[in-house]
Amino acid sequence: MAFTYFFRDMQTLEAIRDHALPALKSRRYINIWDAGCAMGPEPYSLAIVLRESMGRMIFRNVKIYATDIDGSNLFGKIIRDGEYPGEQVRRIPKEIFAKYFSSNGKPDHFIIADEIKKSVEYQKHDLLTLRPVRNNFGLIVCKNVLLHFKEAERINVINMFHEALSEGGFLAVEQTQKIPEKMKDLFEPVAANVQLFRKKG
Ligand SMILES: C[S@@+](CC[C@H](N)C(=O)[O-])C[C@H]1O[C@@H](n2cnc3c(N)ncnc32)[C@H](O)[C@@H]1O
Repeated sequence: MAFTYFFRDMQTLEAIRDHALPALKSRRYINIWDAGCAMGPEPYSLAIVLRESMGRMIFRNVKIYATDIDGSNLFGKIIRDGEYPGEQVRRIPKEIFAKYFSSNGKPDHFIIADEIKKSVEYQKHDLLTLRPVRNNFGLIVCKNVLLHFKEAERINVINMFHEALSEGGFLAVEQTQKIPEKMKDLFEPVAANVQLFRKKG
């Protein structure tokens, strides 16, 4: 099973909230691609951070396309059910947990709120096909995935992300991932200490 957990990288989530969201909020729809989403903690954490920063009505226009190659064929059901065992939700800040999770009667299992669940749509997808799930994304998040690819694959995938982003769209990768040197013309960094970039041109 893929390694992931809720609120794994708070610094990047906060940078998205502080640097990308103000620009994205002016759009009618906020379309986001979480590429390599694993069992859902990452797209759901992002959805919660966005919901915390906007009213219910604006949040209805947020759609997170969560995709993964998912060798286990289990991620779709886990994400659609939005049900997670206690050990996976333990790191969620207490007040956030109280607001967005409830018990469904199953011992030590918790369900994510409908409003958050509705904002995330899962589909199985292999990034190395180099075909985006759609275009015109305001934000693409791809964390702890690119490191598994060869340099040439990484460049092709980042190029695909660039094309799939709308003008002025944002790309977030994990903190240890750098944008390859020859791609620096495509993106500009927007925040210190995190790998959050804005599409140039
Ligand atoms: C370590 S997990 C990262 C999960 C989440 N992004 C995070 O940072 O917590 C890596 C994920 O990348 C997915 N993955 C690996 N190769 C992929 C590919 N070619 N296309 C899409 N997803 C892929 C794996 O299935 C796995 O779920």
